[in-house]
Amino acid sequence: MYSRIAGTGAYLPEKVLTNFDLEKMIDTTDEWIRTRTGIERRHIAAKDEATSDLSEQACRAALDAAGLTPADIDLVVVGTCTPDLVFPNVACLLQERMGMSGAAFSIEAACSGFVYSLSVADKFVRAGQATRALVVGAEVMSRIIDWTDRETCVLFGDGAGAVVLEASDDAGILYTDLGADGRYRNLLYADSGVSRVKEEGETTLLMKGNEVFKVAVRTLEGMVDRVLADNGLEQGEIDWFVPHQANLRIIRATARRLGLPMERVVLTVRDHGNTSAASIPMALDTAVRDGRIQPGDLVLMEAFGGGFTWGATLVRY
Ligand code: COA
Repeated sequence: MYSRIAGTGAYLPEKVLTNFDLEKMIDTTDEWIRTRTGIERRHIAAKDEATSDLSEQACRAALDAAGLTPADIDLVVVGTCTPDLVFPNVACLLQERMGMSGAAFSIEAACSGFVYSLSVADKFVRAGQATRALVVGAEVMSRIIDWTDRETCVLFGDGAGAVVLEASDDAGILYTDLGADGRYRNLLYADSGVSRVKEEGETTLLMKGNEVFKVAVRTLEGMVDRVLADNGLEQGEIDWFVPHQANLRIIRATARRLGLPMERVVLTVRDHGNTSAASIPMALDTAVRDGRIQPGDLVLMEAFGGGFTWGATLVRY
């Protein structure tokens, strides 16, 4: 028994913030941002748009693509580090709004949130504890960004992506690998929460970009070596690589390690920026809808994020 991806969906807020807009806000240039990160623009949620609102649009699109309705879903899992509320979790908010039933919970693993969620939902479906799951990655990162900090604010954006997982006797998710190392917690974190709060100001994302970059490349290279070895695959045997969209230079390094030309890498970082847990399902949806990813293709998704957390999922689409 496998769980297969039966449909994908994505939603981006309307407002676009370009590098040229950022030039007017902080001491930066379009050229600096593009050459260091590959990002040209990102979408920013409206004041009244929360993570559940973005998620709902992505879920409805995924259900439409699968030819299903909310009544067909009996598990909702949402990867996010920017929930609407402390609780109820975003999955419960979605469940109520869309009229779904069954278990509903969120997973906080920063940029790895979608891969973690997919891995957990896969186990529910394969164990027969859920028939069909909605798995979501959704973030409103703009709310925890310090818009005066040029080292972080140029990197992030908002959005949501979702997939429907269902039981299948044929192929689907073949392999998942998750990891974490909390010793790196101070390299990338949000500086305030609920039980530990700072004295003044809003919660802000803080990052030592240079150090994150080095550990990310090293960790992802190790992970893709493991994915190939564990699955008896040679370099170049993956049809499509759908990486977390944090930085084009990190993605290039990982693709090289996989022995894949950039034509087989799905890239959305230019238009979306780093949308944390939302980036992989949005990139997957892009390549499914434009016809690049076809049934039977071997697709590798991988992510790395705050914690540090990381994960990979190999899917026979
Ligand atoms: N515009 C212009 N200059 C900037 C800038 C900006 N937006 N942000 C930083 N700089 C400056 C720095 O102040 C520094 O100036 P200095 O040399 O005078 O001190 C210079 O650019 C180089 O900074 P550095 O941090 O060494 O740049 P970098 O090449 O490492 O690139 C990142 C910075 C953030 C793009 C890069 O480190 C990165 O992508 N890291 C990974 C981040 C990431 O993906 N995080 C999420 C993981 S899920």
